[in-house]
Amino acid sequence: MRLKLEEADKRGAVSLEEAMERRKSRRSFKRTTLTKKQLSQLIWSAGKAPSAGATYPLELYVAIGEECVEDIDAGVYHRSERGYLELEMHKEGDLREELAIACLSEMFIADAPVSFVIAVEYERTTRRYGDRGIRYVHIEVGHVSQNIYLQCEALGLATVAIGAFYDAEVARVLSLPEEHKPIYVMPMGEHAQ
Ligand SMILES: Cc1cc2nc3c(=O)[nH]c(=O)nc-3n(C[C@H](O)[C@H](O)[C@H](O)COP(=O)(O)O)c2cc1C
Repeated sequence: MRLKLEEADKRGAVSLEEAMERRKSRRSFKRTTLTKKQLSQLIWSAGKAPSAGATYPLELYVAIGEECVEDIDAGVYHRSERGYLELEMHKEGDLREELAIACLSEMFIADAPVSFVIAVEYERTTRRYGDRGIRYVHIEVGHVSQNIYLQCEALGLATVAIGAFYDAEVARVLSLPEEHKPIYVMPMGEHAQ
């Protein structure tokens, strides 16, 4: 099943400088519903990062809970192609709790309506750059994560970059293909003060 996203706004209410100044990691989330527009904006921001040799090794998965994004069923979605305003359903069901357990039981992840899981296919970059490509892939994940942090800030949403998880467990919960290795989990939603 394919899911059409909305066009992203290219003009926000918060300046880039304000977003950078305010950005911080937030680890408590309200169990509220995000709009499809917010989700679309966040996915757009994740696609706006540089890539070594334009090899584009990143694969974005989006875990969405039950009644967590308007008009979107619970499940894990996969961004079909960078820059495309489209997601495809990868796996059905609200997997937030299982994902939180895979992340060393940081249970605030289960409260967040949405989590992005940034996975990578090393081979796309190492094919060109050899072992050095591994470094490039990790750098790229950092670029994308910062975009997501700043976009969350600009939308008044909270997020945190999570690197501490059981790789094999995250891959199992999301049913990731063998070649897609998870690097970062970023839960996001309204901040619970
Ligand atoms: C590579 C990396 C891995 C991280 N992993 C985690 C994590 O597993 N859990 C977590 O709560 N925060 C994690 N963080 C967030 C840091 O704890 C946070 O950025 C740091 O405390 C500084 O706070 P700030 O982001 O509010 O400036 C990670 C950050 C980076 C850059």
